[in-house]
Amino acid sequence: MSFVTYQADGAIGTILLNRPEALNALNSKVLDELNAVLDQVDQNVIRCLILSGSGEKAFAAGADIGEMYHLNEEEGKAFSKKGNDLFRRIETFPLPVIAAVNGYALGGGCELAMACDIRIASENAVFGQPETGLGITPGFGGTQRLARLIPAGYAKQMIYTARNIKAEEALRIGLVNKVVPISDLMNEANKIASQIAANAPIAVRNAKADINEGLELAMDLAMTVEEKRFGACFNTNDQKEGMGAFLEKRKEKTFKNN
Ligand code: CAA
Repeated sequence: MSFVTYQADGAIGTILLNRPEALNALNSKVLDELNAVLDQVDQNVIRCLILSGSGEKAFAAGADIGEMYHLNEEEGKAFSKKGNDLFRRIETFPLPVIAAVNGYALGGGCELAMACDIRIASENAVFGQPETGLGITPGFGGTQRLARLIPAGYAKQMIYTARNIKAEEALRIGLVNKVVPISDLMNEANKIASQIAANAPIAVRNAKADINEGLELAMDLAMTVEEKRFGACFNTNDQKEGMGAFLEKRKEKTFKNN
């Protein structure tokens, strides 16, 4: 049985971590399968991805502690790189990725959600970086992404105390965009994905790349990054379609991803 499933429905692709007996803990096989699933995504058709966990208990309860227990220094570093390379691939994936967090998002699970563009959580979701309580640091990007996403003081408190937080607190500190009842979670994620999918795909991709790249740069340089991709949009048919529809007072728009 597969640890990761993928389903395409129109312009929206849904990836599910599927190891519920271990609360979707991320072992090497899950990481490999998640990587392989990304290769399956038809980027000419799909305009937004949703990533969630199977079951109602966990998005992912972290990297697999049983697998990590026996690692030595070199192996630990390699395991961290394996997760980091994959999560960076998700973060820089050309399409937006929405994390639909349906329960525990701990350690590597919280880190995976943070690698996504947007996080929607169910009311029963729990976030945390429990690693220091296990004698390690976060290793799939948590020490870097958490402090970029939420105020550094909150990030430091979460990591140093290893204390889990509930969805409402995650919302308050900006770790998630919205909290909904679990029965509404996939509907909400799909609603946002549909809103994204209705817009010009090249413009959305360019905006994602601009935001990601720009956040790493000084403002003057970041502006040149924006200017380049803004200009490139004028080389697309979708720019003519989007602006043409406005000028013709036409509601219907057909973006063809070219
Ligand atoms: N690794 C491996 N197995 C895990 C796991 C993990 N991270 N989290 C849960 N499981 C397994 C449990 O071992 C258990 O398996 P068995 O039935 O075979 O014993 C099964 O999932 C169900 O878990 P629990 O019985 O513990 O369920 P619970 O409802 O009592 O508790 C929980 C839920 C609070 C999430 C608890 O499972 C827990 O604390 N899990 C570990 C969370 C954690 O510390 N994550 C961080 C890992 S370190 C990391 O991720 C490093 C990194 O940055 C790369």
